[in-house]
Amino acid sequence: MQAHELFGYFRMPELVDFRQYIRTLPTNTLMGFGAFAALTTFWYATRPKALKPPCDLSMQSVEVAGSDGARRSPLLNSDEPLVYFYDDVRTLYEGFQRGIQVSNNGPCLGFRKPDQPYEWLSYKEVAEMSECVGSALIHKGFKASPDQYVGIFAQNRPEWVIIEQGCFAFSMVIVPLYDTLGADAITYIINKAELSLIFVDKAEKAKLLLDGVENKSIPGLKFIVVMDCFSSDLTERGKKSGVEIISMQALQNLGKANRRKPKPPAPEDLAVICFTSGTTGNPKGALITHRNIVSDCSAFVKMTETALTLNASDTHISFLPLAHMYEQLMQCVMLCHGAKIGFFQGDIRLLMDDLKALQPTIFPVVPRLLNRMFDRIFGQANTAVKRWLLDFAYKRKEAELRSGVIRNNSLWDKLIFHKIQSSLGGKVRLMVTGAAPVSATVLTFLRAALGCQFYEGYGQTECTAGCCLSMPGDWTAGHVGAPMPCNHVKLVDVEEMNYMASKGEGEVCVKGPNVFQGYLKDPAQTADALDKDGWLHTGDIGKWLPNGTLKIIDRKKHIFKLAQGEYIAPEKIENIYVRSEPVAQVFVHGESLQSFLIAIVVPDVETLVHWAQKKGFQGSFEELCRSKDVKKAILDDMVRLGKDSGLKPFEQVKGIALHLELFSVDNGLLTPTMKAKRPELRNYFRPQIEELYSTIKV
Ligand SMILES: *[C@@H]1O[C@H](CO)[C@@H](O)[C@H](O)[C@H]1NC(C)=O
Ligand SMILES: *[C@@H]1O[C@H](CO)[C@@H](O)[C@H](O)[C@H]1NC(C)=O
Ligand SMILES: *[C@@H]1O[C@H](CO)[C@@H](O)[C@H](O)[C@H]1NC(C)=O
Ligand SMILES: *[C@@H]1O[C@H](CO)[C@@H](O)[C@H](O)[C@H]1NC(C)=O
Repeated sequence: MQAHELFGYFRMPELVDFRQYIRTLPTNTLMGFGAFAALTTFWYATRPKALKPPCDLSMQSVEVAGSDGARRSPLLNSDEPLVYFYDDVRTLYEGFQRGIQVSNNGPCLGFRKPDQPYEWLSYKEVAEMSECVGSALIHKGFKASPDQYVGIFAQNRPEWVIIEQGCFAFSMVIVPLYDTLGADAITYIINKAELSLIFVDKAEKAKLLLDGVENKSIPGLKFIVVMDCFSSDLTERGKKSGVEIISMQALQNLGKANRRKPKPPAPEDLAVICFTSGTTGNPKGALITHRNIVSDCSAFVKMTETALTLNASDTHISFLPLAHMYEQLMQCVMLCHGAKIGFFQGDIRLLMDDLKALQPTIFPVVPRLLNRMFDRIFGQANTAVKRWLLDFAYKRKEAELRSGVIRNNSLWDKLIFHKIQSSLGGKVRLMVTGAAPVSATVLTFLRAALGCQFYEGYGQTECTAGCCLSMPGDWTAGHVGAPMPCNHVKLVDVEEMNYMASKGEGEVCVKGPNVFQGYLKDPAQTADALDKDGWLHTGDIGKWLPNGTLKIIDRKKHIFKLAQGEYIAPEKIENIYVRSEPVAQVFVHGESLQSFLIAIVVPDVETLVHWAQKKGFQGSFEELCRSKDVKKAILDDMVRLGKDSGLKPFEQVKGIALHLELFSVDNGLLTPTMKAKRPELRNYFRPQIEELYSTIKV
C-alpha cells in the first residue's frame, strides 16, 4: 500500500471541512463536548497538588548522638546546629544590605494616611535615613559600640526600622519600650538600661517621660527624639529639666550635615535588649545578639526553603509590636530577602482596611486575632443553610489538608472561602502564628479556609522567638512542630509534677545559637533560666509525639496564662478561697484557651450545715451539696473573700463544682507533703471542668 493511500484511508471527508462536520453534529453533543472540555481544563488547572515536605513527616526530629535524649531537626546532616543560611548575612545590618541588593533597591518600608494608598521608601532611602540617624547620634557624643543603648518607645512605623538600622549601622543596641508595660515598668527599664536617649512617636509619650524626669524617677534621661509634630512648649518644658527634645527630622538633618562612616557590628555583638514582663517582680531584659536573631531567622528560611522562596515581590504587614522578638524576627526574614514591609496605621481596628490596601503576601498573626476571625466567620454564617455549606466546604478542604494539599483555588474556595481570603487582601501566601497557644480547631479551620501555607511556631524571647516550628506539608494541629534547625530541644524531668523524660515528657530545654545571653544585670535570674551547659529552661512542659513533633502540655511552677494573656498563679488564689467558712479544699483551674477560671470545691463537713443555716438553707450535708442555691452561695462567699483580698477580676473563678470527698494522699490527689497534685486533679476532674466550661457564658 502506498503512503498516500494509507493517509487517504484515514482521511475522513468531514475533517477536510471541519466547520461543516461540526454543523452536522447535534447541538447537545457539541455542548456536552464543550462542557466536558471546560471541566477537564478546570480540573487540570485546579487539581490539588500536595506540597512536598522537606523530610519524612513520620519522623520530624531525630535524636542527637550521645546526648541525653536531645533532639534536632532532621533537615541537617549533622548534629551541628545551623547558624547562618546566607553566608553574607551574619548581622541585621548585613541582612539589610542584602535586601538592598536582591530587591535591586526596590520598595522597602510603606505607610499610609487614612484612606490613602500606601507610599513607599526604597531600600536605599531607608539606608540613607538610617545612616543619618546613626551619624547624628555619634555627633551628639554617643558611642559606636555595643555598650551604647538607645530606647525606642513607639508603635510600629517606618521610623522604627530606620532608627533600628541606624543604631545597628553603628553597632549600637536598641531597647524597645511599650505602653502595656505600665509606667512603673518603663521607669524601671530606663534606669536599669541607663537610657539617656529615647525615641518616641508621639508628644504624649515625651510628656510622660518628662513627668518622670521632673519627679526625679528617671534622672538619667537627657534626650528625647519625637517623630510626630510637637509644640515649642514641649521643648521649653524639656529645657527646664535638662532634657533636649528634638524632632526626628532635625536629627536626620544633623546627621546629614555630619556624616560618619558606619561601624557595623560583629555577629556576637548585642542587638536588642528585649524586656519581658514576668509574673511577679520587675521586667527582665533579655540580651539578644545579632547572631541570635540571624540564626533563628536562618532556621525559619531553612525549614521553609522547599515550600517557599521569598523575594522582592513579597509584602509583609507589620502590626504585631516590634518591641517583641516575634515581629523583629519576621522583619529580619523580610529585609534579607528584599521584601516590602507595610505598616498598619497604628489602630488595630483599621487593620482590615490596611490589609485591603496593602494586599500583603506575608501575614504573621497571634491566636487572639485568629480567634476573632474564626468567630466572625461563624457569626456571618447565620442561617442553617449557610452553616451547613460552610461546614461541608470545610470538611472537603480539611480532607485535602490531611493529604498535604494546601490551596486557595478549589471549587470550595471559589464558592465559600473567597470572601474570607479577599478580606485579607486576597494575596496572602504565608501565615505564621506564635506567641501563645492556638486551639487546634481554630488553626485547622483557618488553614482550610485561607488556603495558604500556615505555620505554627513555639518559643519565647529567651530563644529569640522560635525554637520549634511546624513543617511544610504537615498541616495537622495540636502540636508545635519539630525543633528548628538552629537549636536542639530536650525534655528534663519535673518530678514534683510527675513528668519524666524517660516517658517523653518534661520541661522543654533549648540550646543553640538562638539562645540568649542572659538578663541585663541580673545574674540570679540568668542562672535560673540558663544552666551551666547553656541549656535554656523554658518553664513549659512538653511531650514528644511519636512522629517527633512537640506538644506543650503544661507549665512549670503552676503558673499559666488565660486566653487574653493574663498570668494566673492558682495557689495564691486557692489560699484565699480556702479561708471561706464552708470550704475545706479548693482546686482552681484555668487554661490558655479559656478566658476565665473555675474551681472544684470540697465543702467542709464540719461547718457547712451550720453556715448554710445562717444563710437560710436547711438539710443534711449531702442534701446541701446537691442544692444549686447552696453552691451559688458558696461561690458568692468565695468571690467576696477574693475581692476583699485584692484579687483582680480575672483572678476570680466564674463557676464551681462541688465534690464531697477530700483530696488526699490516699486517693492520689495530694503529694506526701500535702500539696495538690495538679495534673492528677486536672485529669480526675476533667468531666466537671468540661461541664463548667461548656455551661458558663461570660
Ligand atoms: C513620677 O512620674 C512617673 C510618670 O508619670 C510615675 O510613673 C512615677 O510613679 C512618679 N514617681 C514618683 C516618685 O512620683
Ligand atoms: C518572586 O516569587 C514569586 C513566587 O515564587 C514569583 O512568582 C515572582 O516572579 C518572583 N518575583 C521576583 C521579582 O523574582
Ligand atoms: C492564592 O495563593 C496564591 C499562592 O499561594 C497567591 O498568589 C494568591 O494571591 C492567593 N489568592 C488569594 C485569593 O488569596
Ligand atoms: C504527628 O503526630 C500527632 C500525634 O500523634 C498527629 O496528631 C499528627 O497528625 C502527626 N502529624 C503527621 C504529619 O503525621
